[in-house]
Amino acid sequence: MKYLLRISLLSFVLMLGAACSGDRPSTVGTDAQVEARVNKLLSKMTLSEKIGQMNQISAGGAVTDYAEAVRSGQVGSILNEVDPVKLNALQRMAVEESRLGIPLLVGRDVIHGFHTVFPIPLGLAATFDPALVEEGARVAAVEATALGVRWTFSPMLDIARDPRWGRIAEGNGEDPYLDARMAEAMVYGYQGRQADSTSMAACVKHFVGYGAAEGGRDYNSTYLTERQLRNVYLPPFEAAVKAGAMTLMTSFNDNDGVPSTGNSFVVKDVLRGEWGFDGFVVTDWNSMGEMINHGFGVDRKDVAEKAVNAGVDMDMMTYGFLSHLEELVRSGAVKEKTIDNAVRNILRVKVLLGLFENPYVDVAAGKAVQYAPEHLEAARKTAEESAILLKNNGVLPLKEGVRILVTGPMADAPYDQLGTWSFDGEKSHTITPLKALEARFPGKVDYVPGLRYSREKRNGFADVAAAARRADVVLAFLGEEAILSGEAHSLADLNLQGSQSELLAALKATGKPVVATVIAGRPLTIERDLPNVEALLYSFHPGTMGGPALANILFGDVNPSGKTPITFLRTVGQAPMYYSHNMTGRPYNGETLIDNIPLEAAQTSLGNTSYYLDYGASPLFPFGYGLSYTSFSYSEVGLDKSSYKADDTLKVTFTLTNTGSCDGTEVAQIYIRDMVGSITRPVKELKAFERVSLKSGESRTLTVEIPVEELAFVGLDGVKKVEPGDFQVWVAGDSASGVPVLFNVF
Ligand code: GLC
Repeated sequence: MKYLLRISLLSFVLMLGAACSGDRPSTVGTDAQVEARVNKLLSKMTLSEKIGQMNQISAGGAVTDYAEAVRSGQVGSILNEVDPVKLNALQRMAVEESRLGIPLLVGRDVIHGFHTVFPIPLGLAATFDPALVEEGARVAAVEATALGVRWTFSPMLDIARDPRWGRIAEGNGEDPYLDARMAEAMVYGYQGRQADSTSMAACVKHFVGYGAAEGGRDYNSTYLTERQLRNVYLPPFEAAVKAGAMTLMTSFNDNDGVPSTGNSFVVKDVLRGEWGFDGFVVTDWNSMGEMINHGFGVDRKDVAEKAVNAGVDMDMMTYGFLSHLEELVRSGAVKEKTIDNAVRNILRVKVLLGLFENPYVDVAAGKAVQYAPEHLEAARKTAEESAILLKNNGVLPLKEGVRILVTGPMADAPYDQLGTWSFDGEKSHTITPLKALEARFPGKVDYVPGLRYSREKRNGFADVAAAARRADVVLAFLGEEAILSGEAHSLADLNLQGSQSELLAALKATGKPVVATVIAGRPLTIERDLPNVEALLYSFHPGTMGGPALANILFGDVNPSGKTPITFLRTVGQAPMYYSHNMTGRPYNGETLIDNIPLEAAQTSLGNTSYYLDYGASPLFPFGYGLSYTSFSYSEVGLDKSSYKADDTLKVTFTLTNTGSCDGTEVAQIYIRDMVGSITRPVKELKAFERVSLKSGESRTLTVEIPVEELAFVGLDGVKKVEPGDFQVWVAGDSASGVPVLFNVF
């Protein structure tokens, strides 16, 4: 599987390289041939047929419901239908029963797997393994395209720094560099060779800034300056476009007063003007219509005009384009050239996907590839690498033969283990931790759930405690159901729901060693639970194969290597908190905390720096943190020079040693700080990471090359460049560790 992927990827990347330089050779022809084909078709289209291509409808009902609209060329794309028989029927109407025979583009939210469900994207990011994530995206594409889906509304790249926001589950966490690497991996994985029948167009979303919703409340306004957009929120989208992403989706939020679906600055000036994007832009579900709610348009005609003139090409479920564009063109409010550009972008994607040559699927063959053994293997491996060991008093890994009590609401939750946005996951295929452990240790596993679901409240756990006393070790699977994260599911309290913490306290009281595994869609505030467990593993909803993956880790077949892609807070009141914050004029320096404040304390006696009297200024676990069953040590950081020109390349050398008793994999992270800039800069930013596998006792010296131009940012003058001056570089196993080394750029 991996070898095959490499070949397809290599050819795709070669093609892409050409594509970025303007020639995308593929089995459907060179750019020039594709453009000629698109323009020839466009020249035959009526205005009504052009507008039809710009219309996407949700087609989850009976095929006959959509027959007339499809045959008359009023539908360019459908979503929410995945039955291959129905899709073939709808395609036949478009291809054989409409005037021009333009195939439909079938879209679906294939966010972290199709039938074989992988960990939610926040878990994928925790692997810090783009190659593995790419493989998973390829699996998703193979399964989805086999049934007729050729477009996924993924990857979601919204930088999120507030765990109250439910959609933090769907993105790659808080860091732009990690986000960008995951973006590239998913675009390559989904699209593969564009003309290949297993290619699924990526849709990079939500463009842009959606994850900065004020208060972590979904759909809420954002207030990102252009510099913040350019230095933090846009770079992952640019990376995805450079990787060849064929479509983008606008976001629900209004940023600085302008809803993204009507924001020509980001859609036209940046995306098309600066990045040269030649795919197409779709709205989010009725996000065009929602501009009326925003107070950005008076009616559907007004918002349709604003969206199309802002550069949006396709309307998802407002019917604004279908209902009003013809009239708007007749009145001159919208130029037909604008319509032509939009339709050209849409047709280009359909041609590049090979849809005209290959609109139908083989139903039997399509069903045969679902849940293929190699797909489940890839999902299991990804779930293993996404698990993060946050605490271990030495109780892990467990030894075979122990008597186990399994408890907790997430021990046997096949539906919820799949996580949010797993539309096509089937719980009947999920292997839960309980099922995996029972299969592995027949007769050695007791199961007393204690709580039926995470929000259940209960007084006393006598039954669980009694069972714990009969066991050698207690494995508690806690967390939150899938519905408690994802779209529109923000939380103001991030503690374990219901009586889960009380369950842990009751287990602690038995004196038996408790190992907790938290299965959730976000980083929960688990500080109060840590004293009650000997070890804690964190698994962002791990998907179909989560059970075997977690069992393999708990019993040491796999040494955990996951790292936190998001800061874990001590309490929700610390939100938003993230590692790459600015220094401020008064950085925290260990000021007095609330328990040590004397009575009648003088106003200025506590120090005057940026922190919380009750919770200080540090998180529970920083970005990039994760333990292993072994241990690693880092040498001092070596640099090939102490001063660099802007067009130089930093050569960062360090020796990593596995100082522990078992083999393991470490994610070595390289952070850099720009000490002084024309604007204030973050205290550090991730600029590279390497997964390094070492045998016990083994040392390896690595040199990581970082072009100095990677240190460029948009400064006071609005120009992206490297500013000369002093910098610091760290190499460490998380964002809070390491000893910095100074270098200069002149
Ligand atoms: C939703 C989501 C978007 C998704 C789309 C189609 O509202 O915001 O991420 O792709 O609608 O389901």
